[in-house]
Amino acid sequence: MIAEAQIVISPFGTPLTFFTLTRVCEGVATRLTSVDTVHAEGSWLFTATDDRGETVEVTLVPCGDGVEAWVNRCTHEDQRLDRGEGIGAVLRDGGIVCPKHGSVFDACDGGCENGPAAGSTLLSVQVSVNRGDVFLTDDDYEFDHQGGRDDDEGPSSTSHLRF
Ligand code: FES
Repeated sequence: MIAEAQIVISPFGTPLTFFTLTRVCEGVATRLTSVDTVHAEGSWLFTATDDRGETVEVTLVPCGDGVEAWVNRCTHEDQRLDRGEGIGAVLRDGGIVCPKHGSVFDACDGGCENGPAAGSTLLSVQVSVNRGDVFLTDDDYEFDHQGGRDDDEGPSSTSHLRF
């Protein structure tokens, strides 16, 4: 739960206090970044540990005025969605373009309707936005660090596409 207080002076000079309560998760929510940063950079990658103890990369992408979070792996093959080495995902017309075979995943619902990944949906990670900040609120994932995995066990970054 995040509680924020805002004090406003009424037209009669009386201070009024407003409280905003946001339920972000059952556990502790981790602030990841800001919505503005995700929109400015196009995507924002972080590494988390899932409920099986596996290390997982997650990418935040713009969706409307907010953001969505998806496991950074194509549903077709073990292929990362971003381009690796600190280069973010390619987004086109509100979709995340897989760099290997070009399937496009809707950035808001994760669905794919074209290419070899058609009919599949990206694995989602729950995040919440509170006053412009993005919080990891998925009980199945624990934040580890900003950026990608440090080892070579992550999805490959083969690209057959030119942008
Ligand atoms: S690996 Fe993504 S569409 Fe084939």
